Amino acid sequence: MVILDGKKTSSKILAEVKNRVSTMNIVPHLAVILVGENPASIIYVNNKKKAAEQVGIKSTIIKMEKDITEQYLLDEIAELNNDNTVTGILVQLPLPEHINKNNIITAISPQKDVDGFHPENVGKLVSGIEPYFYPATPQGILMLTDEYNIPLEGKHAVVIGRSNIVGKPMGQMLLKRNATVTMCHSYTNNLDEIIKTADLVVSAVGKKIVRCKMVRKNSVVIDVGIFKDSNGKLTGDVDFDIVSPSCGFITPVPGGVGPMTIASLMYNASKVYP
Ligand code: GUN
Repeated sequence: MVILDGKKTSSKILAEVKNRVSTMNIVPHLAVILVGENPASIIYVNNKKKAAEQVGIKSTIIKMEKDITEQYLLDEIAELNNDNTVTGILVQLPLPEHINKNNIITAISPQKDVDGFHPENVGKLVSGIEPYFYPATPQGILMLTDEYNIPLEGKHAVVIGRSNIVGKPMGQMLLKRNATVTMCHSYTNNLDEIIKTADLVVSAVGKKIVRCKMVRKNSVVIDVGIFKDSNGKLTGDVDFDIVSPSCGFITPVPGGVGPMTIASLMYNASKVYP
């Protein structure tokens, strides 16, 4: 069994991005909007800022009170869209309930949508047209499997979770790599039986859900989940002790997908469209 080292691979990608940024004739500028004080969001946003600094990308965190109106946020996005010195815009999710997330995502210019969440970018991905940006987490997962030369063509990929951030784009990007994709979610019957037929499992649920003893020999297990267990220890969707002895490759939590998401986002933030 091989541990897929997301920390090491992300350092390598960040070094490549830094190199590329240093040769560009403009400094990319990522604007990150944070609404409210969700503790996890504050950590994520600070990590993004740190990574941007590391690779020579300018970043600005725009903090807003949790009770701002949707229109206030839309006005700020319009301003950033029109600002030629801002090359990337990211609105940290989740947003407070009174703000319609879809209206916000749709307001961001697709050419500055470093998350790849705008319907134009999603539609392009699904239609087989090159989007301006691919969502960071699935793109980071493919950077990691590519680093370990893991073949995907013709393989059975089982994606657990159907979020717009991870599961759905992951499925589309695996299809693009000619994998056979099964999308699973909370209503899926016989999940364990499906997992046992997978060459690749990507779990993005946020619950301890992958715990079957005998996954396929040489299978690849990617754990996107990250949450605290009852003892306050960081853990993922996969029961590492049960699953790791029978699989071929597995990501640790922490140190697997998390750092890859950041590196992948910085790769996106270094892309500048005129
Ligand atoms: N919240 C959790 N993941 C993400 C992400 O990838 N992008 C944004 N904008 N918010 C998130």
